[in-house]
Amino acid sequence: MADGTPKGLREPSLDGPFGPGIDRVDGRLKVTGHAPYAYEYQGAEYHGPEPLVGYIVPATIATGRVVSIDDAVASRAPGVRLVLTHANAPPQAPWGPLVAQDRFARAQPMLSDDRVRHYGDPVAFVVADTFEQARAAAMALVVHYESDTPQADLRRHLDQAKVLSKMDGGESPVSDVGDSAKAFAAAPVRVDLRYDTDYQNHAQMEPHASLAVWNGPKLTIWCSSQMVDSHQGGVAATLQMSKTNVRIVSRYIGGGFGGKLPYYADQILAALAAKRLDHPVKVALTRQQMFHVTSHRTQTFQHLQLGADHDGALQSMNHEAWVQTARYDNFVENVAQPTRGLYASPNITTLHKVAKLDLPRSDSMRAPGDAPGSLGLECAMDELAERLGMDPVALRLKNDTMVHPTSHQPYTTRKLADCLKAGAAQFGWERRPTRPGTVRDGEWLIGYGMASAYRGNMLRDASAEVTLGADGVLVVRLAMTDIGTGTYTVLTQIAAESTGLPVEKVRVLMGDTAFPPTAGSGGSFGAETSGSAVFRACEALRDRLAEAAVGDARSPLHGADMTRIAFEGGRISSGDAGEELGALAGRISPDGVTAQGKVSKAEKPQGKAEASFGAHFAEVGVNMVTGEVRMRRMVGVFSVARVLNAKTLRSQLLGGMIWGLSSALIEGNEVDVRQGFFANHDLANYHVPIQADVGEVEVTVLAESDPAVNPIGVKGAGELGICGSGAAVVNAVYNATGVRMRSFPITPDKLLPHLPPVLSV
Ligand code: MOS
Repeated sequence: MADGTPKGLREPSLDGPFGPGIDRVDGRLKVTGHAPYAYEYQGAEYHGPEPLVGYIVPATIATGRVVSIDDAVASRAPGVRLVLTHANAPPQAPWGPLVAQDRFARAQPMLSDDRVRHYGDPVAFVVADTFEQARAAAMALVVHYESDTPQADLRRHLDQAKVLSKMDGGESPVSDVGDSAKAFAAAPVRVDLRYDTDYQNHAQMEPHASLAVWNGPKLTIWCSSQMVDSHQGGVAATLQMSKTNVRIVSRYIGGGFGGKLPYYADQILAALAAKRLDHPVKVALTRQQMFHVTSHRTQTFQHLQLGADHDGALQSMNHEAWVQTARYDNFVENVAQPTRGLYASPNITTLHKVAKLDLPRSDSMRAPGDAPGSLGLECAMDELAERLGMDPVALRLKNDTMVHPTSHQPYTTRKLADCLKAGAAQFGWERRPTRPGTVRDGEWLIGYGMASAYRGNMLRDASAEVTLGADGVLVVRLAMTDIGTGTYTVLTQIAAESTGLPVEKVRVLMGDTAFPPTAGSGGSFGAETSGSAVFRACEALRDRLAEAAVGDARSPLHGADMTRIAFEGGRISSGDAGEELGALAGRISPDGVTAQGKVSKAEKPQGKAEASFGAHFAEVGVNMVTGEVRMRRMVGVFSVARVLNAKTLRSQLLGGMIWGLSSALIEGNEVDVRQGFFANHDLANYHVPIQADVGEVEVTVLAESDPAVNPIGVKGAGELGICGSGAAVVNAVYNATGVRMRSFPITPDKLLPHLPPVLSV
């Protein structure tokens, strides 16, 4: 075993036992419709009376107040049980605190006053016997507003944006190393560029939904949550009750992407109404409501100044970003994060300015900060390479660094250069047209582009409990969630491998605050954080089992050497002597043997920087007649330390790459700035890539061992794929056309006017 490989796990490898990837352990449940999602717990886990159904009435103004709500018709409509408004909603805690340890556990009162804070802010909640009755009655409510003029156009309010001194989580909004202004002025080769990226919405397949059930003082909410422990805290704070009386359950989640890190109106309104009616209440957001009642990724405006020597060595980097946050919130999309850590430069300044606008809240979406920020940085690097007359891969290799240039901490491992070289070879980068706009295929212009991928690695707190039964089945319990990433599967693998049980003998139970707390799914820290806790619990279990066997006169291992005990094939053994784990567990206790494990964020390596790396290569065709851009093929090469499951890992990286492509070419929310709403708030008008939009995508993962980062040597992967992939596509568009587009997505209407006239095809 290599140095630092934790006992119980095989060496990191692509073709080891985790390498080829096992199928999802929940795959059959999901495809047969037996995995309950948020709106489907009736009959699965909830067996009480038929729940009443709620319908949220969202505000149709951006800012102002509710003057009156006439519910004369609605409240007498068939089946209606309750019309909840600010006039009759129970008292709740005030919103906040603004700066909290955990912003996903803040109090978020609903219908607590007459203020409308954004379009979609709930102004009423109608509960009836059926969904149709609730919806019909909701339509019959007559709401009168006093509307103020919204400020909803980020582009027009850039100069009122401010640096927020206090924000939750994440890094500081400012960083400053050296004197980037002076170094920029002195640099012989410079680029000074502005980019913008669009608003985005998570558009998960599964809508946000809740079923709230009270049992005396105890409240259970079945819902769709990335972080059940945070939401337990948030719901308890809002309803001013003890956390121990709130249980949040979220077993299966049809997509999170950060849009289920916060909790929203459905949890609170269902709970309030169920309490008032003394009857369970369920509610789901409609697809259209998901765009305004939840959160989104902010539009960004970015200013980048890069200065380099003639040989390409960066001397100065300045990355300034303007982002939106809700009037009442303080979330900052940390756009310039990649500029802080990706390339060596003695002078680096980053700055984020936030405009508080009358729009729904911006919050995390897959690779918050890094996703839009890498579009800016990696396009600017391409422009700098051209100014230098340098190959874009060579420019990145020139500025590779093993030390984080802003924190000055060494990286635990950093395989960016390997990813760049392997990707270039695999893609055939040497065939890149050196002069832009020179390769044609009929009416298509063909081009190649590339970009680096970079995403910081995080460890959070988590705990887990494992119980081995007399039947030889290991049950793992923790309040983790699986947002579709494959968490059930990789935790099953970790538990199986570290106890020597076959995966069929492991049952992972999650998504329930009744289990030991974890930080949940977010920030790509899920697998490593919860995986470390499960691994530790299994270690503790092995120790208990080994001690019990050695000390038990009935065990064939009685008196054996503790250091020579092995766990394999569902057995505990020492040399030729051994027994089934279930038999041993059954003798120790008829209820099985339980052990706990936990990991803390304080265990992250001190004085070190940690990140995952990669490189993207893209070939596009640009249609000279229509202006449409087609991604023909992409290659992504990544290093993420230990591979837990090559299949689920590939899916994560592939999905991220496609989202990057989408950000570059397809996806964006259009704000109606007069009314502060997203005009394209449905899936007919909010475009995401479909199969026909995606060419051939190859994902390669390099073997890498990084035992320092956490007990299982695993680094985050879920958000890495989106970082830089959009820039690779944009840079390919330039290489194809000779046109620099700096406003994303590059839709045909933006690109077409810049394309050369088609003389012949
Ligand atoms: Mo992620 S944006 O932390 O779910």
